[in-house]
Amino acid sequence: MTATIRIELQSITDVEADVLIVNLFEGTTQPTGATGALDQALGGQISALIETGDFTGKFKELKVLYPFGKLKAKRIFLVGLGEAAEFTHPRARQAAAVAARAARDHKAVTVATVVHGAGEGHLDTALAAQALTEGTLLGLYQVTTLKKHQTPSTLTDLIVVEADAEKYQAIHDGIERGRVIADATNYARELINRPANLLTPTNLADAAQDVANRFGLGLNILGDQELKDIGANAILAIGQGSPEESRLIVLNYHGNPDSEETLALVGKGITFDTGGYTLKPAAGMENMKTDMGGAGAVLGAMQAIAQLKPKANIMAVIPAAENMVSGTAIKPGDVIVTMNGKSMEIVNTDAEGRVVLADAITYALRNGATKLVDVATLTGAISVALGRQVAGLFTNDTDFASVVKEAFHRSGERAWELPIVEDYSNAYKSNVADMKNSAGRDGGSIIAAMILREFVEETPWVHLDIAGVARDIEGNQELNPRGATGFGVRTLVELAFLQESQEQ
Ligand code: BES
Ligand code: MN
Ligand code: ZN
Repeated sequence: MTATIRIELQSITDVEADVLIVNLFEGTTQPTGATGALDQALGGQISALIETGDFTGKFKELKVLYPFGKLKAKRIFLVGLGEAAEFTHPRARQAAAVAARAARDHKAVTVATVVHGAGEGHLDTALAAQALTEGTLLGLYQVTTLKKHQTPSTLTDLIVVEADAEKYQAIHDGIERGRVIADATNYARELINRPANLLTPTNLADAAQDVANRFGLGLNILGDQELKDIGANAILAIGQGSPEESRLIVLNYHGNPDSEETLALVGKGITFDTGGYTLKPAAGMENMKTDMGGAGAVLGAMQAIAQLKPKANIMAVIPAAENMVSGTAIKPGDVIVTMNGKSMEIVNTDAEGRVVLADAITYALRNGATKLVDVATLTGAISVALGRQVAGLFTNDTDFASVVKEAFHRSGERAWELPIVEDYSNAYKSNVADMKNSAGRDGGSIIAAMILREFVEETPWVHLDIAGVARDIEGNQELNPRGATGFGVRTLVELAFLQESQEQ
């Protein structure tokens, strides 16, 4: 259950709550604003903490104070925001998550908080409120389990406290936007965390249908027969080892009828990746339920886009299949002809993502896409290169890539561009087909991107390899409890808004 959020225009010293969250910048000697008012009411307790060096305001530092009847709030949480000069909205988001999770650990039901960074931090009020909302709701996310005894979170009420009535509208708008985006991210997490027996390609299509119905999006779902009819043999080939039918899921949002432009968001939707006959090792294979992380991100983004309504046309395309081993599965050496006519020798059945994406990209181009972003848990090599907090970004168009990079900057998610290296194209040449689906171990993420590029024709394209970031295995990031991160949702939503200006 997610907490409800409301704004209360009142003085900080009047707030009633189980936990009241205020903040402090590092290096502050004399607290001002809300923190200053509480300090006074508490007879200088906060000043004393600063003076003794017991609280420095270091980023994410947290201290609990008890007002002993001097305030109506039962506890005060003082959260450190770090140096004022280094303060950014990603920090506001993280600080909010740290405080919210600590409040939940204290079994709080009602939590009140100030908007971090809207005062001394000099963030735009609406953006600060959005960051607060996102940080809180993302940090509080708990995976739905099938445990017989679950302890649900007690935290049901979040109150945003503001003394200045003039800020009401901006805070309201920021909260609303943050709520939509956090809910969409948590929805993506929910899908990605779902075990593969409960999230088959058919179930994923049902989820898309549900999103389309609830938020008003165009929907087209192609099953095995329709895929055969359009020649989407690559998707069919990857799914042919599974008794579960494959699906191509298409969602449409028409926010700008005056424009010919359509941005396609293509998300890899392998609901489970055993590797096929090129079988994966047993250790950690259970995490391959995350292999629809790109699909989850795209579906989550569409849910938010449908609510926030950017003036742009956005299409989502999700190839969904289960990569299994069986008597009907593809074998190394099999050759298939993809939807755009190029043939592929499947030398490695575990390099299945690029195969299904080939047809999904072709489908998007044949159905009006003028720009394309694909999001895929594509290669293990990407986390060797960039670790578990930064996605890989590849492109055939510097201008479009700079728009996507701006979207990343706004969302606070991180990506780093890696090159396309023309000389590497020899590596995936085949004797018997237009290309192989995989080459050697070296430069694996680049080769994968180059194979995708074979299908994007002249369309401006960005490929995001999220194999390293889609799942937080350790669960040591504030915004990401262990499990699916929902990486990409926030950035794709920002991109949809940046696309507005591209579609003038
Ligand atoms: N789904 C995997 C990539 C992956 C690895 C995602 C780790 C998340 C965590 C993908 O289908 C795959 O198996 N890629 C191969 C490519 C190789 C066979 C060229 C890989 O990375 O080993
Ligand atoms: Mn694979
Ligand atoms: Zn895969």
